[in-house]
Amino acid sequence: MSERIRPLIAGNWKMNGTSAALNEISRLRELIAEARRIAADILVCPPATLVHRAAQIAQGDAIALGGQDCHASRSGAYTGDISAEMLSDAGARYVILGHSERRAGHGETSAEVRAKAEAALAAGLVPVVCVGETETERAEGYANAVVGDQVTESLPDFAADAEIVVAYEPVWAIGTGKTPTIDDIAQMHRHIRQLLVDRFGAAGESARILYGGSVKPSNAGEILSTPNVNGALVGGASLKADDFFGIISAA
Ligand code: PGA
Repeated sequence: MSERIRPLIAGNWKMNGTSAALNEISRLRELIAEARRIAADILVCPPATLVHRAAQIAQGDAIALGGQDCHASRSGAYTGDISAEMLSDAGARYVILGHSERRAGHGETSAEVRAKAEAALAAGLVPVVCVGETETERAEGYANAVVGDQVTESLPDFAADAEIVVAYEPVWAIGTGKTPTIDDIAQMHRHIRQLLVDRFGAAGESARILYGGSVKPSNAGEILSTPNVNGALVGGASLKADDFFGIISAA
């Protein structure tokens, strides 16, 4: 890759946080304002109930807000669901899609993830499409095949002026404190990069591929300096602004 891709450090709060958690957005803003230089784009994906207020607190470009899921339709009789347009209207610029907790807990297929990603793009959001193998799939030697299929089937075609982010999150590394070796991360990111370049050409070369799964301030530096790792998707360590900022500083 010729030019360096600006990393994206994304926080996924999952189903954590009520109004009090908005203090973490204020604190993050403070930490960013105090820093001399921030070498990454920063994204926080709080629960949908907090997106609007978080965007008001974030005020401006330093911290982008995102949703954690959206429906594939623009509107309609889908009780409890939220559309990409609604997230955008609330101040979101990104949306996480196909997280393994949605694939496992809600039976989301890659075809559904693709439809959601299309809806996100249509609403002007950047989809952060998650892929990753289970521990058994890795042990049995299928990690590349599983992730390859997920990348192929979950990503929509997109216009040259749009942006898509892929997040590689081995299911067994999420919330467990376990991470793949740096060699394994490098290998999988190279595999994903090749698929993106084969399909999307230049847009695939510049698309960000995030690593996710037990990223914390202490391992972020090494992970983020791995080739083709263009940022991180952070769960647990994104809930406290100071921890999250430790990861941002490592970028
Ligand atoms: P974790 O979660 O950082 O708590 O492992 C990552 C994720 O699920 O996105």
